[in-house]
Amino acid sequence: MIKQLFEKGNIGHKITRNRFVAQPMEGNCADKGGSVSQLTINKYKNLAEGNWGIIIVEALSVTPTSLARKNALVLNEKNLDGFKKLVNEIKLINPEALILFQITHSGSISNPNFSEQVAISPLSEGRLLSTDEIEKIKEGFVKCARLAEEAGADGIDYKSCHGYLGAEILRPMNIRNDKWGGSWENRTRFLREGIEEISANRKRNDFLIGCRISMYEGMRGCEGTSAPEELIEDLSEQIALLQLLNKLKMDYVNISAGIPAKTPTLTRPVQSAALMYLHHLRYTQFAKQTLSNTNMKVIGSAYSILREDAFKVAEEMLSKHYTDFVGWGRQTLADPLMPKKLEYGESINFCTACSGCSKMMIKQINVGCIMFDEHYKRYWKENL
Ligand SMILES: Cc1cc2nc3c(=O)[nH]c(=O)nc-3n(C[C@H](O)[C@H](O)[C@H](O)COP(=O)(O)O)c2cc1C
Repeated sequence: MIKQLFEKGNIGHKITRNRFVAQPMEGNCADKGGSVSQLTINKYKNLAEGNWGIIIVEALSVTPTSLARKNALVLNEKNLDGFKKLVNEIKLINPEALILFQITHSGSISNPNFSEQVAISPLSEGRLLSTDEIEKIKEGFVKCARLAEEAGADGIDYKSCHGYLGAEILRPMNIRNDKWGGSWENRTRFLREGIEEISANRKRNDFLIGCRISMYEGMRGCEGTSAPEELIEDLSEQIALLQLLNKLKMDYVNISAGIPAKTPTLTRPVQSAALMYLHHLRYTQFAKQTLSNTNMKVIGSAYSILREDAFKVAEEMLSKHYTDFVGWGRQTLADPLMPKKLEYGESINFCTACSGCSKMMIKQINVGCIMFDEHYKRYWKENL
């Protein structure tokens, strides 16, 4: 019955073994200075075992000074060997897996208890960044993309979702009066120039470039609204954004929604708001429709809440061409072997949406599944 999910896919000049995507999931388990730890390696080796077609490595910060998570991974020269090892370990187990590095800056979501909270917009929390500082952050994204390529990754995700800096700059509420704010032209400059430079700098022409966006963040003046004072969803700017991504010749867009720190159930539906997943299906289909007749591929999000029903829904989304790839987040922690187990008819540990992993992230401790992973089950009890 499950057929389409196991079919090969195309993305840029690459082929994927199937349509399963392991979405980026922060583990908050880096070693000192944001370097790759053994816990990080173990997590991705498990995903490699699971035969996911695409593995998106969690948010990697372009800076050690503005972090949302105390033990976030930082992609810089000092940590490069660790990232090379990470890629090698995944490829040793699963040479076909496409590995994408998500690069980010936490901006106003940076935690002021251990990091500097900085803002794009005078309407956001944190110290307002100067024109030159934003230029330097953009250079940081470009440099990280180069490091990702050097580490052996197959591509990057220029994170532009969930309220992080890449999203904050796109919002109508970015009312800065310099070249980074106000007009649509200015608000998209960070993305436009960053992507153009990354494309021009890449050494391998099959190195994938894409980004993750929140179609609607569910907050006044944020992504998916039409003006700084508007709350109602209006996808006009998101259509323009998708068209811009295509004009920039990006290979894919990963569709998400919400701001986990502010509108969490929109990003990751929980039992009491399970039907939120319907918005994700709608946004994904909308993106696919907007990008029809282009080469860009679309990845959908938030399938974990559907448990075993996710496969049927995924098949329908794929067969109707409403998406190209299907992404799971929390499910990758509950059972990193899911695609392989499904293929071989083995029983799967389905995510219960207990929010344990999110609570760990909020508590600033290592993140894992407290329901099915013995290590994290114990660790959670010790840290309660
Ligand atoms: C603990 C945790 C960590 C996450 N880390 C990231 C991240 O690094 N980057 C990102 O874009 N989304 C992140 N997300 C969002 C997930 O990728 C995903 O979009 C969300 O969980 C909804 O999908 P699901 O319902 O399949 O879990 C995270 C979510 C959780 C719960």
